[in-house]
Amino acid sequence: MMKRVRIGMIGSGTVGSSVLGLLEARKSLFESQGYKVKVLPVLVRDPSKTRDNVPLGTQFTADDKVLEDADIIFESMGGTGKALELVQSQLQDGKILITANKAMLAERWDVLKPYTMNGQVYCEASVMAGTPVLGPLTGTLRSSNTLELHAILSGTCNYILTRMEDGATYEAALAEAQAKGYAEDPPTLDVAGTDAAHKLCVLARITVDPNFAWADIHTRGLEGLSSQRVLEAVRNGKRVKLVGSIVPKNGQWHATVRPVLLDAEHPLAQSASSRNTMLFHGDASGIVIVQGGGAGGLVTASAMVGDLIDHFAGVTGHQPSPEATRVPQNHTPEVFAEL
Ligand SMILES: NC(=O)c1ccc[n+]([C@@H]2O[C@H](COP(=O)([O-])OP(=O)(O)OC[C@H]3O[C@@H](n4cnc5c(N)ncnc54)[C@H](OP(=O)(O)O)[C@@H]3O)[C@@H](O)[C@H]2O)c1
Repeated sequence: MMKRVRIGMIGSGTVGSSVLGLLEARKSLFESQGYKVKVLPVLVRDPSKTRDNVPLGTQFTADDKVLEDADIIFESMGGTGKALELVQSQLQDGKILITANKAMLAERWDVLKPYTMNGQVYCEASVMAGTPVLGPLTGTLRSSNTLELHAILSGTCNYILTRMEDGATYEAALAEAQAKGYAEDPPTLDVAGTDAAHKLCVLARITVDPNFAWADIHTRGLEGLSSQRVLEAVRNGKRVKLVGSIVPKNGQWHATVRPVLLDAEHPLAQSASSRNTMLFHGDASGIVIVQGGGAGGLVTASAMVGDLIDHFAGVTGHQPSPEATRVPQNHTPEVFAEL
């Protein structure tokens, strides 16, 4: 007996339109899991807009009452205001939320924490887009205590830095990243390091402390970085990368995002263009490195639709570390030269 599930979609921009296409393309997979998926009219700002990148017959609405009929909410709108207001009432009704919105998760934890702790929230796409990190960190890697974690988390910043290595100016590289749909709106969220800090905050709560505060992420972005500095690094066998780190320091967990100089052979230096990398060091697992696409519509949609497949398979949402983990006393984390 096939179970019917109604999807309430919020947003049909870069990510949402790809989600719609992938939901359509994977219908037979959902059916093999025992679910018939129906997408309700998609909630957008302007339903009259021409949209030729979505499945034929997709309907749009500006009336958020449509969400009342949904069983599962996909949020790909972004921001911390209206998006939170829309999902909060649905979470209160016990519905499942699948979201790519790291800003909302990082900054409105006061509201979202209880729903995330009880497994209602799936958010793989919020960190490193389509590259699975929250699944492994809340699954297999939970058997390890965290010793340190480092990651390249901004597809936009990594794309800009890679293009500057080729000789592009900062401004030209940013414009290209925007044209490819990698950049946040506004792009200052990326280049100031805020977007990477949002993701690092999600990672800190998943790995070391469910109460890690957004205000405790120390952040410096790419502003003021010259092409000359990037090219000089390449000439010296180095790479400039924006790296987020969670490390033990003076008996506390310390989380920071900043541009650093890496040896060209370092695993974190291997992700070019919009790709992202996470290096997790656990006491039992040792060093685990995950690398893949970190921005873009389809790659982000792949994680959101993957979350739905996990939900149908009976896997709960991405739950944070149940309590603050012990800060390791005898572990010396890797230190990078900051720019
Ligand atoms: N782009 C990426 O590579 C990427 C990667 C990972 C995660 N994310 C996250 O995914 C989310 C969406 O990003 P995006 O790049 O897809 O954004 P986007 O292209 O700007 O799309 C936003 C969508 O939300 C709709 N919307 C905006 N305000 C609304 C409102 N008040 N009521 C109803 N709908 C509203 C817009 O409607 P209209 O179409 O009518 O304007 C649009 O369809 C963000 O949280 C972002 O951080 C993005």
